[in-house]
Amino acid sequence: MKIGINGFGRIGKSLFLQILFDNEYDFEICAINAIHLNIDQIESYLKYDSTHKYDTNFTITIDKTNKSYFHIIYKNKSHKVKVWSSKDTTQIIWDVDLLFEASGAFLSTKDCLKHQNVKKVIITAPAKDNETPTFIYNVNHTNYKEQNIISCASCTTTCIAPFLKFMDSNYMIDNASFTTIHASTSSQYVLDTPIVSKKSGRSSRSIFNNLIPATTGASSAIKAVLPKLDGKIQGMAIRVPTNNISLVDLVIECEKECAIDEVCKKVEDLKSINMKVEKNELVSMDFQTTTYCTIIDKPSMIQLDKNKLKVLIWYDNEWSYSTQCINMAKYIYEKEFKNDKYHFINDYVSFKCKNVLMRVDYNVPFNKDGSISDNFRIVSTLKSINRILKDKPNYIILATHLGRPDPEKSYEENKKYSTIHLITELTTLLDKKIYFLEDGVTYKSINKIKNIMNKNYIHSIYELDEHLSPTLLNNSEPTIFLLENLRFHSDETNFENIDFNKENSEIYQVWNQLGDIFVNSAFGCSHRNHLSMYGYSGMIYYDYLIEEEMKALEEITINPKNKKILTILGGAKIDDKLPLCNALLPKVNNIYLGGGITNSYMYNENHRKFINTLDLNKKTFLMFDGYGNISLNEKMGKYLYNYHIQNHNYYDIGNQSLNELYELIDNNDIIFWNGTLGVVEYELYKNGSEKVLEYLLNSGKRLIIGGGDTAGFVNQYLKSENIDIKDKNIHICTGGGASIEFIIKGKLGFE
Ligand code: 3PG
Ligand code: MG
Repeated sequence: MKIGINGFGRIGKSLFLQILFDNEYDFEICAINAIHLNIDQIESYLKYDSTHKYDTNFTITIDKTNKSYFHIIYKNKSHKVKVWSSKDTTQIIWDVDLLFEASGAFLSTKDCLKHQNVKKVIITAPAKDNETPTFIYNVNHTNYKEQNIISCASCTTTCIAPFLKFMDSNYMIDNASFTTIHASTSSQYVLDTPIVSKKSGRSSRSIFNNLIPATTGASSAIKAVLPKLDGKIQGMAIRVPTNNISLVDLVIECEKECAIDEVCKKVEDLKSINMKVEKNELVSMDFQTTTYCTIIDKPSMIQLDKNKLKVLIWYDNEWSYSTQCINMAKYIYEKEFKNDKYHFINDYVSFKCKNVLMRVDYNVPFNKDGSISDNFRIVSTLKSINRILKDKPNYIILATHLGRPDPEKSYEENKKYSTIHLITELTTLLDKKIYFLEDGVTYKSINKIKNIMNKNYIHSIYELDEHLSPTLLNNSEPTIFLLENLRFHSDETNFENIDFNKENSEIYQVWNQLGDIFVNSAFGCSHRNHLSMYGYSGMIYYDYLIEEEMKALEEITINPKNKKILTILGGAKIDDKLPLCNALLPKVNNIYLGGGITNSYMYNENHRKFINTLDLNKKTFLMFDGYGNISLNEKMGKYLYNYHIQNHNYYDIGNQSLNELYELIDNNDIIFWNGTLGVVEYELYKNGSEKVLEYLLNSGKRLIIGGGDTAGFVNQYLKSENIDIKDKNIHICTGGGASIEFIIKGKLGFE
């Protein structure tokens, strides 16, 4: 989970250090904002402290290329931290999952909503509004309902609430009052000042040599976490001239009898990570840097009456309070972030001023005249591209393979595979100028990018103020590049070889320099272990396209509602599909095999043997009648039945098989269809597949179409029949092989 900390005072620093020392949780500190901090002083600020003693065996290095970052390593775990020093916090692009709001300046939901690119905010102070819910770990944390902005109350509340909760559930509290003898905080003045706060005139007085009565937000915060005790608890504070550790003096009256020994024993038996009973006669310094927020001082307890106690409770108002805030963050992590294996480009990811490298799958079919015959794959990426462009990145590079060129052959010979053939379509669809990088993934392209960027943005486009987020000075549009076919480089498809030498591979080196953020959209190629698919060493973000594909296919792999699933497999690439049947069988209720697979059954002995092992006519069915001929060149299709006619091929599905298939459709809830049931490119033989599609669309069943050719066929049919895909319960995958592999593995193929 990516963490940010706004405010780097006593709490901000304690949070930082405790997260650094934690080796249990996958927390990564990514950004801090410290108004007056000079990054050159970060090391001494973190290594020395007038209050706490802790392990200082961590190393800090300031990034040489970008001085607003430092790297910190403790016991092999490293964090790359962006340092902001911005008063106008709303300008910061945090890019984190969870932000600790420890500045003291943002105390309401309304204010915290101003933080950019954060999923969750924990305010480390009592909230000032009624909207923000308050949670204390081990008090009411289980009431947390995935709210985005929460408060962790104050240190004093965190100290007494666990004890009050315990007392109330065991002895039923009638009333309680407390005074916290509280160490001074940064809100205090060293010497008397004329600044008089609205709350109390005394707060402007020198903290040296004075005991200063003050208010505490604890009374109202207790109400928020333990609503049952509303009206029963009152409290105040006295600020004293020590720098840390505070002490609550609590008088508590219960409805039941509460004997000191029994109370202490029960607290000990709880073995709580927050509460502890201290039997030794200690003083405040002895509790420095404790992680317990509620330490009952047993020697000083007084039994005022059978049902009335006076108790002193110690707490570290900096360190143990921070521990409880982190415990809450851990709870949130367990609940919401732990299983986030994939990073999607949701609303929180920012592309502002980034160099975006995007792997797309534009492996589209062409007409004989050179125009694109099916642009579905390109259209499917527009939502993500427009989302990225909206953030105003510096540039976006679109990179794809096209066909299967032989990298050993000359450019002339491979020319038909050049991605330059995509430019016209892309320019139309995006309505933007596209720059072509004809040198592909080479250093030459990097130079070309630099030159174009310099020309496009004559002077420096960004004011890279050290303190503020980079701001676009002019309204220049992000530049869009299209890379030459990735498969013109032999290393692209050679990536899975163990011998692959990353140091000597230009494409590997350049690929990693082309962008500072990598977005993978190439679902159709996700079953290929290729360099462009998984050779980027930084974080891989998946785009909307992949997210939507995964969501649809998980209806089959996870099948959360336990639906009955029918898989229809057809098409020509039989070698690809047959072996999948074994893997598919346990996940689906029925498999229907048709199209070219029927010919295979007739003429390929291995395929026939294999199909015969598939529990035919019970779980698996094979198309048995249809139309066909000796070759596709014949003008007429003959009716074929039961695989008997020598030298003939099935080119379309027949009525009896159709009826059998309809029955299967009726008996299942989700239909996954990969591969058409006839040679749909031929007018003569597309009839059967169209009938099946019509039947499926009318059935209202959930329909998932996997695959390039099937997708093309379905898209074309919907278009010609004027059917809006939004009106139908249908998902069309952009990848055939990829969707099958996803179903089998339950995850993206290249993982
Ligand atoms: C596809 O068309 O299925 C994908 O783009 C992957 O292409 P490939 O089968 O040539 O790897
Ligand atoms: Mg394919």
